[in-house]
Amino acid sequence: MSSNKIMVIFMLFLFCFGFSDGVNVGHLEGRKGQWQLLLKSTGVVAMHTALTFKNTVIMFDQTGARQSSYQLRRRFNGSRCTTSRNDLMDSTCYAHSVEYDIVSNKVRPLRLDTDPWCSSGSFLSNGTLLQTGGFGQGAKRVRLYRPSCGNHQCDWIQTSKFLSDERWYASTQILPDHDRVVVVGGRRVFTYEFVPKISHNEKSFHLPFMHQTRDDQGNNNLYPFLHLSSDGNLFIFANRDSILLNLRRNEVIKTFPRIPGKGSRNYPSSGSSALLPLDHRDNFQKVEVMVCGGSATGAIEAARERRRFLQGLRSCGRMVITGNNHKWEMDFMPKPRLMHDMLILPTGDILIINGAKHGCAGYDNARNASLEPYLYSPKRRLGKRFTVLRSTKIARMYHSSATLLADGRVLVAGGNPHGRYIFHNVAYPTELRLQAFVPHYMNKRYDDWRPSNLIIEEAPIRYGTEFRVLFFLGRRPSKVVEFIAYAPPFTTHSFSMNQRMLKLRCKSMVRGGADGWMVAVLEAPPSPNVAPSGYYLLTVVNGGIPSMSQWIQFAHA
Ligand SMILES: *[C@@H]1O[C@H](CO)[C@@H](O)[C@H](O)[C@H]1NC(C)=O
Ligand SMILES: *[C@@H]1O[C@H](CO)[C@@H](O)[C@H](O)[C@H]1NC(C)=O
Ligand SMILES: *[C@@H]1O[C@H](CO)[C@@H](O)[C@H](O)[C@H]1NC(C)=O
Repeated sequence: MSSNKIMVIFMLFLFCFGFSDGVNVGHLEGRKGQWQLLLKSTGVVAMHTALTFKNTVIMFDQTGARQSSYQLRRRFNGSRCTTSRNDLMDSTCYAHSVEYDIVSNKVRPLRLDTDPWCSSGSFLSNGTLLQTGGFGQGAKRVRLYRPSCGNHQCDWIQTSKFLSDERWYASTQILPDHDRVVVVGGRRVFTYEFVPKISHNEKSFHLPFMHQTRDDQGNNNLYPFLHLSSDGNLFIFANRDSILLNLRRNEVIKTFPRIPGKGSRNYPSSGSSALLPLDHRDNFQKVEVMVCGGSATGAIEAARERRRFLQGLRSCGRMVITGNNHKWEMDFMPKPRLMHDMLILPTGDILIINGAKHGCAGYDNARNASLEPYLYSPKRRLGKRFTVLRSTKIARMYHSSATLLADGRVLVAGGNPHGRYIFHNVAYPTELRLQAFVPHYMNKRYDDWRPSNLIIEEAPIRYGTEFRVLFFLGRRPSKVVEFIAYAPPFTTHSFSMNQRMLKLRCKSMVRGGADGWMVAVLEAPPSPNVAPSGYYLLTVVNGGIPSMSQWIQFAHA
């Protein structure tokens, strides 16, 4: 073999790992991150949020709050909103949804025709947000938001389709087949259904598990945690119990052990859950879920009837849901926590942000805001996984949310433990300030390590195929260079529906000379079970320092 050939092989095969040492993040202070105040008011409480592939964030509240802080000059039907008492009281003279543009840092109002209060949502394969359910007239509605619509300004479209059952506090998950979603549960609804339906007579399916897992305090196992396993089955967690459901056969194929400890995890107990990153190294076969925090048993009566706010849960459980050995591995957060959000950062760590230490979800049911985010590092030794990050001064209680952005920041918005917008004489006023939490990896001193200018040629990318990503790196790559794909979730009530991260296989990586351009050949996920088709954020992470992400689309052939 000529030395040239040896060189090429060396470049192609070893280079996926790089050479130099990783970034030395250094002292703890350097890992704590920063906070930015972006807007004094979004006008509308961000009870629900989702990042679109156009890098805008859709936010919406309940129309039932009537007067938001975003007053309209004209109603969406064109008629003027005057200063008459009638108009000042008229819900249609206020926005209840906005689109936040990240680059311009501005919001614009969106039109909602029915109440999406405590609803759910998922992105379809073309990046359209499918939004399901709500309250009253809105409880059976299906709405769409197309992030891109030519010369028009995009807005909500209320479709003529109806759900079979009312879905208030239901969860949804995008599915691998037929570009449709499953909607599970809701208040006093013990069924699931698909949207869109495949046939006219397709109805909802009874799910006894949703009935069995209600706690004694009422119909309270709401907003169940859903995760799509890489075998195509649906994991459903409600309060303390969980199952694996085969949706094609309407059959429960696994009943997992109960999570240890007292208390419960779903609304109004409102712990949170995330799927740990799926990894090409096991062909995405190992699927592990994590559930953290929640409320003590009896927290809702204590808060409502006695105005006592019981301490929340500190415990977190992790369980592999594939294979045959299922056991919750328990760990403890630094403090009790509920109503928090759990987001997977590009580094594969889990950010736990927002929420409170005492009480439960619902109006004015919680106290002692959790002002410090936690970073959970899944790869570290048990007992060493949590880091306490820099605290904010702004409480984010019930009806707040958090969203990972393409630039690596986390948008933090909303909070309103009241049925109206109330700014005075309450423990926790309506919160409209918009913040970003800026994780440590964004610090300028890592800019040398930071890959930039990602270019992906293929669009869309078919399953199992190779695709190339070009990027710039001013120095030799670190020992560990990772390529990750992140499905943007729909976040509400402490659960980020459809959130998913994949560590993609790098087949080769070469440096194109002295100018710093790199070319990596990556392998797309093998199937829509592993990654349902749609838009994902692709990020190159060099020694723990992520690039700005680029949108890619995984699609059927
Ligand atoms: C617009 O909506 C308002 C309030 O619902 C209603 O009073 C008015 O008649 C409507 N105007 C038009 C042009 O439809
Ligand atoms: C995306 O798909 C949905 C559902 O099929 C459809 O209603 C919508 O018009 C599509 N959007 C675009 C931009 O093609
Ligand atoms: C919770 O907040 C109350 C005041 O609202 C305070 O008295 C109490 O010490 C706080 N408890 C904890 C554990 O922070």
